[in-house]
Amino acid sequence: MERVGSKAEARKTVADAHAEHKTVALVPTMGALHDGHLALVRAACARAEYVVVSVFVNPTQFAPGEDYETYPRDIDHDMDLLAAEGVDLAFTPSAAHMYAGDAGVTVDPGPLGARWEGEVRPGHFTGVATVVTKLLSIVRPDVAYFGEKDYQQLQVVRRAVADLDLAVTVTPHPVVRDRDGLALSSRNVHLSAEERVAARAVPAALEAVAEALAWGERDARALEWAMTDVLAEEPSLAIDYVAVVDPATLEPLDAVDRAARALVAARIGPTRLIDNCELLPPAAAGEPAPAHRKGSE
Ligand code: PAJ
Repeated sequence: MERVGSKAEARKTVADAHAEHKTVALVPTMGALHDGHLALVRAACARAEYVVVSVFVNPTQFAPGEDYETYPRDIDHDMDLLAAEGVDLAFTPSAAHMYAGDAGVTVDPGPLGARWEGEVRPGHFTGVATVVTKLLSIVRPDVAYFGEKDYQQLQVVRRAVADLDLAVTVTPHPVVRDRDGLALSSRNVHLSAEERVAARAVPAALEAVAEALAWGERDARALEWAMTDVLAEEPSLAIDYVAVVDPATLEPLDAVDRAARALVAARIGPTRLIDNCELLPPAAAGEPAPAHRKGSE
């Protein structure tokens, strides 16, 4: 595996792969890699002939007072993991190199970036959309991988790629979870043993909403309450939001009568946890629709 820190070197190295007509994949990360990241890397390696992984803790997506300084970093271990997966190129720029001191142009993520995570973390999605656009412009991949773990981020990236006519296929990857159901996240290393047990309430809330839906509940507010009830049982956990939303626009739904997404964000001590799951009403989940409803949509 090659490792480069400069944009020019990254461009040149990938240009050789493009010249050889190789399919190029990019997996953008902020490092402290875990099996969630590696699942994306494996999917990229299975699909593409040349795989680039960027490891860059992007300062512009952290709001003032957030955990930029304390965000976990372990670049040597990350490099070992990526080399073992057969990654071709690790792109590991410094913040000073990535952004010129007077850089003032950013990518506005539009209305999608304003709600949920965008409300709790002002400017976050501008930082994400800007750095992802820069990475796509430097690497020019045919395909880029993003995890459904950060579901709103995935939708923001999809919109940016569509609205800015970027020539890349965005490929989502399902959430990778630990054995206890908690979604893998670099920030989980900050959880104490007790906090780790409390964090289990987040996937439990998603299990509860899926169960309520399976029992026939369709009302979005009632489904949100099913999640809130589970989270409220855990006193050390503070809820940022729970929501049942349209899977593309992330606008709140009144009822789940088609595919939807459940979103949860909560804090345990200083650690934020976000998670989500797909909500499919049983008829859309695989059972054929009753004959009289066929063709009605
Ligand atoms: P980071 O949090 O390091 O995540 C990198 C990629 O891995 C993202 O697409 C994220 O959704 C995915 N990922 C993380 N944990 C996952 C899990 N448990 N299951 C599935 N996928 C998972 O997200 C970022 O970095 C940054 O915002 C970035 C896109 C790199 C821009 O700076």
